[in-house]
Amino acid sequence: MVFQIKKEGKKLLLLDTGNLLFRKPLQTETKRKDALLRVDLLIQSYNEIGYDVVNVGEKDLMLGPRFLSETTQKARFLFISANLIDKKTQKGIFAPHVIKEIAGIKIAILGFLDDQFNATLQEIDPNLTILDPITTSKELTKRLRETSDLIIVLSQLGESKDRKMARENPQIDLILGGGGDALRAVMERINEVPIYRLEPRGGYLGRVDYSLNDTRKPIKFLISSEREELEKRLERMMIRSKQIKAEITKSGKPEEMKLKELKFLESKQKELEKNLLVFENKNYYKHTAIPVQLSVEDDPKIMKGVEYYRAESAKLYKPKVASPLEKELSEKEMLARIPKDSLYVGAITCKKCHEVNYRNWLKTKHAKASQTIVASPKYAQEECLICHSTGYGKIGEYATVDDIPLFLKGVQCESCHGPGRGHPGKGRIERRVTLGVCRNCHTKDQSPTFNYAAYLEKIGCKITK
Ligand code: HEC
Ligand code: HEC
Ligand code: HEC
Ligand code: HEC
Repeated sequence: MVFQIKKEGKKLLLLDTGNLLFRKPLQTETKRKDALLRVDLLIQSYNEIGYDVVNVGEKDLMLGPRFLSETTQKARFLFISANLIDKKTQKGIFAPHVIKEIAGIKIAILGFLDDQFNATLQEIDPNLTILDPITTSKELTKRLRETSDLIIVLSQLGESKDRKMARENPQIDLILGGGGDALRAVMERINEVPIYRLEPRGGYLGRVDYSLNDTRKPIKFLISSEREELEKRLERMMIRSKQIKAEITKSGKPEEMKLKELKFLESKQKELEKNLLVFENKNYYKHTAIPVQLSVEDDPKIMKGVEYYRAESAKLYKPKVASPLEKELSEKEMLARIPKDSLYVGAITCKKCHEVNYRNWLKTKHAKASQTIVASPKYAQEECLICHSTGYGKIGEYATVDDIPLFLKGVQCESCHGPGRGHPGKGRIERRVTLGVCRNCHTKDQSPTFNYAAYLEKIGCKITK
């Protein structure tokens, strides 16, 4: 999408409000390794897209400031933070702001973190502290105003603090709000300061166009939607006037009412034209939220990075040792591993009374369905286990094949007959296994050749007609 905008040939400044690198806490070593791969992918992609400045969000500091500093070495863009400082030196860890010169105007970009994360930050690095963003912004903009024409704030402060900053610091020309959970794009103006906020999960690309027609200092930008509104009204009036004139010519005799309306329209038009003069040779800005749809073409170079990431990440989750097969354990050991309070009891339990069904089932592909995915080069994480294991989502959700308890590996008896605890007797075992049960897993996508009658023959159970 950015590449398409670049083709328009305009001068671009690409900014990100922060919390770019990590999403969730990294609880396990595997998740940590996966996250590092993702960080590499993100930095490479942002380099490729040509980002200029990224604000530091509290989540970006998850692996400590040193990790982030090292990461910034690989970035061809700048990480900034105006209120993250070292307690001892009272100096910033990252550049507090950047000044970019575009078309002769100087644009200062500042970034802020929310100081409510000070407690969490202490746990990561007790030497760091987050200063009050609003006070810090006032001090900074007072100095920056002298040298820059436009001051843009990248914020992770959330809606209410963004508004507070706008109310208390009118020196700011634009706040790009990253924090919070807006469900769509919102542009509001508080104290004449525009605050622009997008739905946070990358659903939109926000674009603000600045048109420069008057370079006299201090440079001021008006919002162009007001101008567009006036232009639209003017256009509607002109169309109506034309209509009336045509009607008058057609009927031959001018009607009193129509002449009156025409006169009224003409005076209104003059008034609007006068109002529009205010915008003549002025600078203005305009904002648009571009939805990131699937139809947006993927950049081949970035896609290559994404594919590399997917393959490497899948390797991390893939069990290194083959999962222990039933035959490696004795029946007694297998039974001992089944929790006494588990709703599911495993095929090995059924074996005691349904020996024939068990032996037949062991020969089917269902029995080996979890091993199949480990061997598959397409092996992804949880998304495969939903169908290639037993009771997924009902009894547990496992991240990898290794996490699945042995008695739930493969598509076991209870995938079709329901949980076996309490059977025989009041248990929930189902004699009738319907087509709907098969269709839970044998979807059109995953099992294109599925044929109920033919497949039933191969499941190892006797079918009563
Ligand atoms: C302790 C012996 C025993 C165990 C263990 C056992 N069953 Fe049964 N099963 C029976 C008996 C007895 C019947 C017939 C009486 C009944 O329907 O309750 C039966 C019937 C069934 C039926 C047919 C039900 C019907 O309505 O005709 C199915 C299907 C079944 N069992 C599946 C299983 C599955 C799956 C397991 C393992 C999760 C299992 N059984 C474990 C003894 C057992
Ligand atoms: C919990 C998910 C699940 C359910 C429910 C399920 N299957 Fe399957 N089935 C699979 C998976 C996964 C495979 C592929 C196993 C493999 O090769 O690793 C499979 C494979 C098969 C195969 C082997 C196909 C071949 O290539 O030889 C047959 C036959 C089959 N299923 C029949 C059925 C029928 C009939 C039902 C319903 C009575 C059913 N399955 C219900 C998941 C399921
Ligand atoms: C919606 C359920 C479902 C999901 C999700 C699913 N599978 Fe399957 N898979 C099946 C079924 C059903 C079959 C049997 C298809 C048949 O033989 O008709 C199967 C068969 C297979 C086979 C053996 C047949 C073949 O194509 O060679 C492999 C390998 C496989 N799946 C891998 C995977 C991997 C890897 C994933 C995750 C990326 C996955 N599956 C996700 C249901 C699923
Ligand atoms: C893929 C689904 C599926 C799996 C897995 C499966 N069954 Fe069945 N089972 C069926 C179907 C379908 C029937 C036939 C129901 C009918 O006749 O209406 C059946 C019938 C039965 C019956 C009654 C008929 C008979 O053969 O005596 C028993 C008992 C039974 N299954 C036990 C088991 C046991 C034990 C296992 C695991 C070792 C198992 N089933 C695995 C689908 C399955």
